Amino acid sequence: RGPDHVSQLPPETLLRLLGYLGPADLGRCSQVCRRWAALTRTGSLWRHLYPVRWATGDSSQGPPGEADQEPNEQWVRSRQQEGRAYQHWDEDADIDESEGSPWALAAVRREKALLKGLGHHLLPAVGVAVRSLVLAYSSTVSSKLVRQMLSLCPGLSHLDLTQTDISDSAFDCWTLGASPRLQHLDLSGCGKISDQTLRKLSVALGNLPAPQVPGRGGRLLRSAPLPVPALLDGRAPHPAGRKRQAIVFGGPAPPAPGPPRVWLLDPLELADIEDAAEWGRRRAGGDTRGLTGASLEGGSSSTSSTSCCCRRSRRRAHRTALSASFLQHRLSAAAAAAGAGGDGPGGRDSSSCCSGPAAPRTKNGGPPSQGPGGACTRPLRFLSLSGCHQVTDAGLGALSQRGGLPSLEHLNLSGCLLVTEVGLQELVSACPALNDEHFYYCDNIDGPHADTASGCQNLQCGFRACCRSGE
Ligand code: FES
Repeated sequence: RGPDHVSQLPPETLLRLLGYLGPADLGRCSQVCRRWAALTRTGSLWRHLYPVRWATGDSSQGPPGEADQEPNEQWVRSRQQEGRAYQHWDEDADIDESEGSPWALAAVRREKALLKGLGHHLLPAVGVAVRSLVLAYSSTVSSKLVRQMLSLCPGLSHLDLTQTDISDSAFDCWTLGASPRLQHLDLSGCGKISDQTLRKLSVALGNLPAPQVPGRGGRLLRSAPLPVPALLDGRAPHPAGRKRQAIVFGGPAPPAPGPPRVWLLDPLELADIEDAAEWGRRRAGGDTRGLTGASLEGGSSSTSSTSCCCRRSRRRAHRTALSASFLQHRLSAAAAAAGAGGDGPGGRDSSSCCSGPAAPRTKNGGPPSQGPGGACTRPLRFLSLSGCHQVTDAGLGALSQRGGLPSLEHLNLSGCLLVTEVGLQELVSACPALNDEHFYYCDNIDGPHADTASGCQNLQCGFRACCRSGE
Protein backbone atom coordinates (compact mmCIF):
# COMPACT_ATOMS: atom_id res chain seq x y z
CA ARG A 1 0.00 0.00 0.00
CA GLY A 2 1.72 3.20 -1.20
CA PRO A 3 1.71 6.61 0.43
CA ASP A 4 -0.81 7.81 -2.16
CA HIS A 5 -3.36 5.11 -1.32
CA VAL A 6 -6.82 6.40 -0.44
CA SER A 7 -6.55 4.80 3.01
CA GLN A 8 -3.69 7.18 3.88
CA LEU A 9 -6.08 10.12 3.80
CA PRO A 10 -6.97 11.68 7.17
CA PRO A 11 -10.30 10.52 8.59
CA GLU A 12 -12.07 13.82 8.07
CA THR A 13 -11.18 13.76 4.35
CA LEU A 14 -12.24 10.14 4.03
CA LEU A 15 -15.47 10.99 5.78
CA ARG A 16 -16.11 13.83 3.34
CA LEU A 17 -15.64 11.39 0.46
CA LEU A 18 -17.92 8.81 2.06
CA GLY A 19 -20.60 11.47 2.30
CA TYR A 20 -20.98 11.35 -1.48
CA LEU A 21 -21.88 7.65 -1.44
CA GLY A 22 -25.29 6.05 -1.25
CA PRO A 23 -26.34 3.54 1.40
CA ALA A 24 -25.48 0.48 -0.71
CA ASP A 25 -21.97 1.76 -1.42
CA LEU A 26 -21.48 2.68 2.23
CA GLY A 27 -22.40 -0.88 3.12
CA ARG A 28 -19.77 -2.20 0.72
CA CYS A 29 -17.14 0.22 2.07
CA SER A 30 -17.83 -1.03 5.57
CA GLN A 31 -16.50 -4.42 4.51
CA VAL A 32 -13.11 -3.14 3.30
CA CYS A 33 -11.32 -3.02 6.67
CA ARG A 34 -11.95 -2.22 10.31
CA ARG A 35 -10.98 1.43 9.91
CA TRP A 36 -13.43 1.93 7.06
CA ALA A 37 -16.08 -0.01 8.93
CA ALA A 38 -15.72 2.40 11.87
CA LEU A 39 -15.84 5.42 9.55
CA THR A 40 -19.02 4.24 7.82
CA ARG A 41 -20.69 4.09 11.21
CA THR A 42 -20.32 7.85 11.59
CA GLY A 43 -23.61 9.44 12.51
CA SER A 44 -23.52 12.29 9.98
CA LEU A 45 -23.66 9.73 7.14
CA TRP A 46 -26.97 8.34 8.36
CA ARG A 47 -29.11 11.29 9.36
CA HIS A 48 -32.02 10.47 7.03
CA LEU A 49 -33.10 6.86 6.58
CA TYR A 50 -35.33 5.55 3.77
CA PRO A 51 -34.95 1.77 4.06
CA VAL A 52 -38.12 0.95 2.12
CA ARG A 53 -36.88 2.95 -0.87
CA TRP A 54 -33.36 1.61 -0.50
CA ALA A 55 -34.76 -1.89 -0.89
CA THR A 56 -36.03 -0.88 -4.33
CA GLY A 57 -32.70 0.58 -5.45
CA ASP A 58 -33.56 4.22 -4.70
CA SER A 59 -30.65 5.73 -2.77
CA SER A 60 -32.45 8.77 -1.30
CA GLN A 61 -30.45 10.31 1.53
CA GLY A 62 -31.40 13.98 1.87
CA PRO A 63 -33.90 15.52 4.25
CA PRO A 64 -37.55 14.69 3.49
CA GLY A 65 -39.28 17.18 1.20
CA GLU A 66 -42.80 17.92 0.07
CA ALA A 67 -42.45 15.74 -3.03
CA ASP A 68 -41.70 12.76 -0.80
CA GLN A 69 -45.21 12.97 0.60
CA GLU A 70 -47.02 12.46 -2.69
CA PRO A 71 -46.49 8.90 -3.95
CA ASN A 72 -47.95 7.62 -7.16
CA GLU A 73 -51.23 5.71 -6.71
CA GLN A 74 -49.98 2.93 -8.97
CA TRP A 75 -46.91 2.60 -6.77
CA VAL A 76 -49.16 2.36 -3.72
CA ARG A 77 -51.11 -0.44 -5.39
CA SER A 78 -47.92 -2.34 -6.18
CA ARG A 79 -46.84 -2.00 -2.55
CA GLN A 80 -50.17 -3.47 -1.46
CA GLN A 81 -49.65 -6.37 -3.83
CA GLU A 82 -46.24 -6.96 -2.32
CA GLY A 83 -47.76 -6.81 1.14
CA ARG A 84 -50.29 -9.48 0.28
CA ALA A 85 -47.54 -11.66 -1.19
CA TYR A 86 -45.52 -11.19 2.01
CA GLN A 87 -48.43 -12.11 4.26
CA HIS A 88 -49.09 -15.20 2.17
CA TRP A 89 -45.43 -16.18 2.35
CA ASP A 90 -45.15 -15.39 6.04
CA GLU A 91 -48.17 -17.49 6.95
CA ASP A 92 -47.06 -20.49 4.94
CA ALA A 93 -43.30 -20.83 4.48
CA ASP A 94 -43.81 -23.91 2.31
CA ILE A 95 -45.66 -21.96 -0.35
CA ASP A 96 -44.78 -22.82 -3.93
CA GLU A 97 -43.18 -19.54 -4.99
CA SER A 98 -43.72 -20.29 -8.67
CA GLU A 99 -47.47 -19.86 -8.13
CA GLY A 100 -47.25 -16.41 -6.56
CA SER A 101 -45.61 -13.21 -7.80
CA PRO A 102 -41.87 -13.95 -7.65
CA TRP A 103 -40.92 -10.32 -8.18
CA ALA A 104 -43.18 -9.18 -5.36
CA LEU A 105 -41.89 -11.86 -3.03
CA ALA A 106 -38.27 -11.02 -3.83
CA ALA A 107 -38.97 -7.34 -3.15
CA VAL A 108 -40.49 -7.93 0.26
CA ARG A 109 -37.74 -10.38 1.22
CA ARG A 110 -35.13 -7.77 0.30
CA GLU A 111 -36.98 -5.15 2.31
CA LYS A 112 -37.31 -7.39 5.34
CA ALA A 113 -33.61 -8.29 5.30
CA LEU A 114 -32.65 -4.64 5.01
CA LEU A 115 -34.92 -3.55 7.88
CA LYS A 116 -33.55 -6.33 10.05
CA GLY A 117 -29.94 -5.36 9.33
CA LEU A 118 -30.76 -1.73 10.01
CA GLY A 119 -32.29 -2.45 13.41
CA HIS A 120 -29.68 -4.95 14.56
CA HIS A 121 -26.41 -3.56 13.20
CA LEU A 122 -26.62 0.05 12.03
CA LEU A 123 -28.96 1.84 14.44
CA PRO A 124 -27.20 0.68 17.63
CA ALA A 125 -24.16 2.58 16.31
CA VAL A 126 -25.69 5.65 14.64
CA GLY A 127 -29.23 5.87 16.08
CA VAL A 128 -28.54 8.96 18.19
CA ALA A 129 -27.67 10.90 15.02
CA VAL A 130 -30.74 9.87 13.02
CA ARG A 131 -33.20 12.69 12.36
CA SER A 132 -35.55 11.20 9.74
CA LEU A 133 -36.99 7.70 9.54
CA VAL A 134 -39.28 7.00 6.59
CA LEU A 135 -40.96 3.60 6.61
CA ALA A 136 -44.01 4.59 4.55
CA TYR A 137 -45.74 1.80 2.63
CA SER A 138 -43.53 -0.89 4.11
CA SER A 139 -45.10 -4.31 3.70
CA THR A 140 -42.87 -5.97 6.26
CA VAL A 141 -42.24 -3.58 9.13
CA SER A 142 -43.73 -4.75 12.43
CA SER A 143 -44.67 -2.98 15.64
CA LYS A 144 -41.77 -4.70 17.39
CA LEU A 145 -39.25 -3.44 14.84
CA VAL A 146 -40.62 0.11 14.96
CA ARG A 147 -40.44 0.03 18.76
CA GLN A 148 -36.81 -1.08 18.58
CA MET A 149 -35.95 1.64 16.08
CA LEU A 150 -37.66 4.38 18.09
CA SER A 151 -35.79 3.39 21.23
CA LEU A 152 -32.50 3.65 19.32
CA CYS A 153 -33.33 7.01 17.69
CA PRO A 154 -34.21 9.49 20.47
CA GLY A 155 -33.41 12.52 18.29
CA LEU A 156 -35.98 11.86 15.54
CA SER A 157 -37.66 14.92 14.07
CA HIS A 158 -39.40 13.22 11.11
CA LEU A 159 -41.21 9.88 11.38
CA ASP A 160 -43.29 8.55 8.50
CA LEU A 161 -45.20 5.29 9.04
CA THR A 162 -47.83 5.84 6.34
CA GLN A 163 -49.90 2.78 5.40
CA THR A 164 -48.08 0.30 7.60
CA ASP A 165 -49.55 -2.47 9.72
CA ILE A 166 -48.30 -1.20 13.06
CA SER A 167 -50.39 -1.03 16.24
CA ASP A 168 -50.24 0.95 19.47
CA SER A 169 -47.50 -1.32 20.86
CA ALA A 170 -45.03 0.22 18.38
CA PHE A 171 -44.84 3.24 20.65
CA ASP A 172 -44.47 1.48 23.99
CA CYS A 173 -40.93 2.86 24.32
CA TRP A 174 -42.18 6.46 24.33
CA THR A 175 -41.81 7.66 27.92
CA LEU A 176 -41.95 11.20 29.25
CA GLY A 177 -39.92 13.47 26.96
CA ALA A 178 -38.56 10.52 24.97
CA SER A 179 -39.02 12.25 21.62
CA PRO A 180 -38.65 15.97 22.31
CA ARG A 181 -37.56 16.91 18.76
CA LEU A 182 -40.40 15.27 16.84
CA GLN A 183 -41.79 17.75 14.28
CA HIS A 184 -43.40 15.51 11.69
CA LEU A 185 -45.47 12.38 12.37
CA ASP A 186 -47.39 10.67 9.57
CA LEU A 187 -49.64 7.78 10.60
CA SER A 188 -51.92 7.94 7.54
CA GLY A 189 -53.58 4.63 6.85
CA CYS A 190 -52.47 3.01 10.12
CA GLY A 191 -55.91 1.59 10.89
CA LYS A 192 -54.79 -0.21 14.06
CA ILE A 193 -53.74 3.01 15.77
CA SER A 194 -56.03 4.15 18.60
CA ASP A 195 -56.11 6.76 21.35
CA GLN A 196 -53.31 4.90 23.16
CA THR A 197 -50.82 6.09 20.56
CA LEU A 198 -51.94 9.70 20.89
CA ARG A 199 -51.53 9.52 24.67
CA LYS A 200 -48.01 8.15 24.24
CA LEU A 201 -47.22 10.82 21.65
CA SER A 202 -48.33 13.56 24.01
CA VAL A 203 -46.15 12.10 26.76
CA ALA A 204 -43.14 11.67 24.46
CA LEU A 205 -43.25 15.33 23.42
CA GLY A 206 -42.80 16.36 27.05
CA ASN A 207 -44.50 18.97 29.21
CA LEU A 208 -44.45 22.63 28.29
CA PRO A 209 -43.29 24.81 31.19
CA ALA A 210 -46.19 26.36 33.09
CA PRO A 211 -46.93 29.89 31.85
CA GLN A 212 -45.69 32.70 34.05
CA VAL A 213 -48.52 34.11 36.16
CA PRO A 214 -48.55 37.39 38.09
CA GLY A 215 -47.95 37.19 41.82
CA ARG A 216 -50.10 38.95 44.40
CA GLY A 217 -50.34 42.57 43.33
CA GLY A 218 -48.57 41.91 40.06
CA ARG A 219 -49.78 43.76 37.03
CA LEU A 220 -49.45 43.58 33.30
CA LEU A 221 -46.69 45.88 32.18
CA ARG A 222 -46.30 45.44 28.45
CA SER A 223 -47.05 43.17 25.60
CA ALA A 224 -44.03 42.97 23.37
CA PRO A 225 -43.74 41.01 20.14
CA LEU A 226 -41.27 38.17 20.29
CA PRO A 227 -38.41 38.34 17.78
CA VAL A 228 -39.10 36.19 14.75
CA PRO A 229 -36.22 33.71 14.59
CA ALA A 230 -34.65 32.73 11.30
CA LEU A 231 -35.21 29.05 10.65
CA LEU A 232 -32.12 26.96 10.23
CA ASP A 233 -33.27 25.52 6.91
CA GLY A 234 -33.64 28.97 5.41
CA ARG A 235 -37.45 28.97 5.08
CA ALA A 236 -39.52 31.86 6.28
CA PRO A 237 -41.21 31.27 9.63
CA HIS A 238 -44.97 30.70 9.70
CA PRO A 239 -46.93 33.97 9.72
CA ALA A 240 -48.71 32.85 12.89
CA GLY A 241 -45.36 33.08 14.67
CA ARG A 242 -45.27 36.81 14.06
CA LYS A 243 -48.48 37.33 15.97
CA ARG A 244 -47.36 35.75 19.21
CA GLN A 245 -47.00 38.14 22.07
CA ALA A 246 -44.87 37.92 25.20
CA ILE A 247 -46.78 38.93 28.31
CA VAL A 248 -44.48 40.33 30.98
CA PHE A 249 -45.55 40.80 34.60
CA GLY A 250 -43.74 42.43 37.47
CA GLY A 251 -43.04 45.79 39.18
CA PRO A 252 -42.36 49.12 37.52
CA ALA A 253 -41.67 49.08 33.83
CA PRO A 254 -37.91 48.84 33.14
CA PRO A 255 -36.31 50.85 30.36
CA ALA A 256 -37.05 49.44 26.95
CA PRO A 257 -34.55 46.58 26.50
CA GLY A 258 -32.73 45.90 23.29
CA PRO A 259 -33.64 42.87 21.24
CA PRO A 260 -32.73 39.65 23.07
CA ARG A 261 -29.83 37.73 21.61
CA VAL A 262 -30.55 34.38 20.08
CA TRP A 263 -27.69 32.07 19.19
CA LEU A 264 -28.41 29.83 16.24
CA LEU A 265 -26.06 26.96 15.51
CA ASP A 266 -26.17 25.22 12.16
CA PRO A 267 -26.61 21.49 12.84
CA LEU A 268 -24.32 20.73 9.90
CA GLU A 269 -21.53 22.57 11.69
CA LEU A 270 -22.19 20.45 14.76
CA ALA A 271 -21.80 17.24 12.81
CA ASP A 272 -18.02 17.28 13.07
CA ILE A 273 -18.17 17.77 16.84
CA GLU A 274 -20.58 14.86 17.26
CA ASP A 275 -18.51 12.69 14.98
CA ALA A 276 -15.31 13.49 16.88
CA ALA A 277 -16.99 12.53 20.15
CA GLU A 278 -18.27 9.34 18.54
CA TRP A 279 -14.81 8.34 17.30
CA GLY A 280 -13.27 9.06 20.67
CA ARG A 281 -15.85 6.91 22.43
CA ARG A 282 -15.26 4.06 20.04
CA ARG A 283 -11.49 4.23 20.41
CA ALA A 284 -11.88 4.17 24.19
CA GLY A 285 -14.18 1.17 24.00
CA GLY A 286 -12.19 -0.66 21.33
CA ASP A 287 -15.34 -0.85 19.17
CA THR A 288 -14.37 -1.77 15.60
CA ARG A 289 -17.35 -3.74 14.47
CA GLY A 290 -18.33 -3.50 10.81
CA LEU A 291 -21.65 -3.03 9.07
CA THR A 292 -23.72 -5.54 7.22
CA GLY A 293 -23.26 -4.44 3.66
CA ALA A 294 -25.12 -7.17 1.84
CA SER A 295 -28.52 -6.14 3.10
CA LEU A 296 -28.11 -2.63 1.76
CA GLU A 297 -28.17 -3.73 -1.86
CA GLY A 298 -31.37 -3.57 -3.87
CA GLY A 299 -32.98 -3.76 -7.30
CA SER A 300 -34.58 -1.21 -9.59
CA SER A 301 -36.47 1.89 -8.58
CA SER A 302 -40.16 2.33 -9.25
CA THR A 303 -41.01 5.61 -7.55
CA SER A 304 -42.86 8.41 -9.29
CA SER A 305 -43.90 11.93 -8.42
CA THR A 306 -47.53 11.80 -9.54
CA SER A 307 -49.96 12.75 -6.82
CA CYS A 308 -52.10 10.17 -5.02
CA CYS A 309 -55.79 10.89 -4.45
CA CYS A 310 -55.31 10.66 -0.66
CA ARG A 311 -52.79 13.46 -0.73
CA ARG A 312 -54.70 15.87 -2.93
CA SER A 313 -55.50 19.11 -1.18
CA ARG A 314 -59.09 20.25 -1.61
CA ARG A 315 -60.54 23.45 -0.27
CA ARG A 316 -63.75 23.07 1.64
CA ALA A 317 -65.98 25.04 -0.73
CA HIS A 318 -69.23 23.55 0.50
CA ARG A 319 -69.89 21.35 3.49
CA THR A 320 -72.43 18.60 3.38
CA ALA A 321 -75.48 19.34 5.48
CA LEU A 322 -75.27 17.47 8.74
CA SER A 323 -78.20 15.16 9.28
CA ALA A 324 -79.53 14.75 12.80
CA SER A 325 -79.41 10.98 12.61
CA PHE A 326 -75.81 10.95 11.45
CA LEU A 327 -74.81 13.31 14.26
CA GLN A 328 -76.59 11.13 16.81
CA HIS A 329 -74.78 8.07 15.48
CA ARG A 330 -71.37 9.74 15.74
CA LEU A 331 -71.94 11.07 19.23
CA SER A 332 -73.16 7.73 20.58
CA ALA A 333 -70.26 5.86 18.93
CA ALA A 334 -67.71 8.28 20.33
CA ALA A 335 -69.28 8.14 23.80
CA ALA A 336 -69.19 4.34 23.74
CA ALA A 337 -65.55 4.31 22.65
CA ALA A 338 -64.56 6.85 25.28
CA GLY A 339 -66.41 4.95 28.00
CA ALA A 340 -64.72 1.69 27.05
CA GLY A 341 -61.34 3.34 27.38
CA GLY A 342 -62.19 4.88 30.75
CA ASP A 343 -60.98 8.26 29.54
CA GLY A 344 -63.30 10.96 28.26
CA PRO A 345 -62.49 13.98 26.13
CA GLY A 346 -60.32 16.31 28.06
CA GLY A 347 -59.88 13.85 30.91
CA ARG A 348 -56.62 13.16 32.64
CA ASP A 349 -54.11 11.15 30.72
CA SER A 350 -54.27 7.65 32.14
CA SER A 351 -51.54 6.03 30.09
CA SER A 352 -49.28 3.85 32.15
CA CYS A 353 -46.26 5.59 30.70
CA CYS A 354 -47.34 8.86 32.31
CA SER A 355 -47.52 7.42 35.77
CA GLY A 356 -43.93 8.04 36.66
CA PRO A 357 -41.14 10.34 35.52
CA ALA A 358 -39.21 7.59 33.76
CA ALA A 359 -35.80 8.77 32.65
CA PRO A 360 -35.69 9.02 28.83
CA ARG A 361 -32.74 7.72 26.85
CA THR A 362 -30.20 10.24 25.64
CA LYS A 363 -26.89 10.11 23.86
CA ASN A 364 -24.92 10.65 27.02
CA GLY A 365 -27.33 9.14 29.50
CA GLY A 366 -28.45 12.54 30.81
CA PRO A 367 -31.73 14.41 30.39
CA PRO A 368 -32.89 14.85 26.81
CA SER A 369 -31.94 17.86 24.74
CA GLN A 370 -35.25 19.66 24.42
CA GLY A 371 -35.01 23.25 23.37
CA PRO A 372 -32.98 26.41 23.87
CA GLY A 373 -32.12 26.56 27.53
CA GLY A 374 -33.35 22.99 28.06
CA ALA A 375 -37.02 24.01 27.90
CA CYS A 376 -39.52 21.63 26.33
CA THR A 377 -41.09 23.08 23.17
CA ARG A 378 -43.41 20.30 21.92
CA PRO A 379 -42.30 21.18 18.36
CA LEU A 380 -44.73 18.96 16.43
CA ARG A 381 -45.67 20.81 13.23
CA PHE A 382 -47.23 18.05 11.10
CA LEU A 383 -49.61 15.33 12.25
CA SER A 384 -51.60 13.08 9.93
CA LEU A 385 -54.06 10.53 11.30
CA SER A 386 -55.89 10.09 8.00
CA GLY A 387 -57.73 6.78 8.00
CA CYS A 388 -57.04 6.09 11.70
CA HIS A 389 -60.70 5.26 12.24
CA GLN A 390 -60.27 4.13 15.87
CA VAL A 391 -59.18 7.56 17.11
CA THR A 392 -61.78 9.32 19.28
CA ASP A 393 -62.17 12.62 21.09
CA ALA A 394 -60.28 11.13 24.06
CA GLY A 395 -57.12 10.81 21.95
CA LEU A 396 -57.43 14.37 20.68
CA GLY A 397 -57.96 15.50 24.27
CA ALA A 398 -54.68 13.83 25.29
CA LEU A 399 -52.84 15.81 22.61
CA SER A 400 -54.26 19.08 23.90
CA GLN A 401 -52.87 18.43 27.38
CA ARG A 402 -49.30 19.02 28.67
CA GLY A 403 -49.26 22.41 26.94
CA GLY A 404 -51.01 21.48 23.69
CA LEU A 405 -49.28 21.61 20.33
CA PRO A 406 -48.14 25.24 19.97
CA SER A 407 -46.30 24.65 16.67
CA LEU A 408 -48.81 22.42 14.89
CA GLU A 409 -49.60 23.79 11.40
CA HIS A 410 -50.81 20.69 9.53
CA LEU A 411 -53.49 18.39 10.98
CA ASN A 412 -55.18 15.69 8.91
CA LEU A 413 -58.10 13.89 10.57
CA SER A 414 -59.77 12.63 7.38
CA GLY A 415 -61.49 9.31 7.98
CA CYS A 416 -61.40 9.57 11.78
CA LEU A 417 -64.97 8.35 11.99
CA LEU A 418 -65.39 8.55 15.79
CA VAL A 419 -64.19 12.12 16.21
CA THR A 420 -66.80 14.82 16.91
CA GLU A 421 -66.79 18.59 16.87
CA VAL A 422 -66.31 18.55 20.67
CA GLY A 423 -62.95 16.80 20.41
CA LEU A 424 -61.93 18.88 17.42
CA GLN A 425 -62.71 22.08 19.25
CA GLU A 426 -60.66 21.03 22.27
CA LEU A 427 -57.63 20.18 20.17
CA VAL A 428 -57.85 23.23 17.93
CA SER A 429 -57.98 25.49 20.98
CA ALA A 430 -54.57 24.09 21.96
CA CYS A 431 -53.05 24.58 18.48
CA PRO A 432 -52.63 28.33 17.95
CA ALA A 433 -50.46 27.95 14.83
CA LEU A 434 -52.85 25.66 12.94
CA ASN A 435 -53.18 26.62 9.27
CA ASP A 436 -56.76 26.11 8.09
CA GLU A 437 -55.56 25.28 4.60
CA HIS A 438 -53.82 22.24 6.07
CA PHE A 439 -56.58 21.28 8.50
CA TYR A 440 -58.60 18.34 7.19
CA TYR A 441 -61.55 16.57 8.75
CA CYS A 442 -64.82 14.88 7.81
CA ASP A 443 -67.19 16.92 5.65
CA ASN A 444 -70.10 15.78 7.80
CA ILE A 445 -68.80 17.48 10.94
CA ASP A 446 -69.69 21.10 11.49
CA GLY A 447 -66.56 21.66 13.53
CA PRO A 448 -64.12 24.49 14.20
CA HIS A 449 -63.11 26.77 11.33
CA ALA A 450 -65.77 25.10 9.18
CA ASP A 451 -65.77 27.85 6.59
CA THR A 452 -62.02 27.94 6.07
CA ALA A 453 -60.71 24.47 6.93
CA SER A 454 -60.20 21.88 4.19
CA GLY A 455 -62.45 18.88 3.72
CA CYS A 456 -61.90 15.16 3.97
CA GLN A 457 -59.12 13.86 1.73
CA ASN A 458 -60.32 10.28 1.61
CA LEU A 459 -63.45 10.73 -0.50
CA GLN A 460 -62.03 9.14 -3.64
CA CYS A 461 -59.52 6.93 -1.92
CA GLY A 462 -60.12 3.23 -2.16
CA PHE A 463 -57.93 2.14 0.72
CA ARG A 464 -58.49 4.59 3.58
CA ALA A 465 -61.50 4.99 5.85
CA CYS A 466 -64.13 7.55 4.89
CA CYS A 467 -67.78 7.78 5.92
CA ARG A 468 -68.68 8.58 2.32
CA SER A 469 -66.63 5.96 0.54
CA GLY A 470 -68.61 4.41 -2.28
CA GLU A 471 -70.69 7.50 -3.00
FE1 FES B 1 -66.56 11.84 6.42
FE2 FES B 1 -64.53 11.36 4.66
S1 FES B 1 -64.66 10.78 6.76
S2 FES B 1 -66.31 12.63 4.41
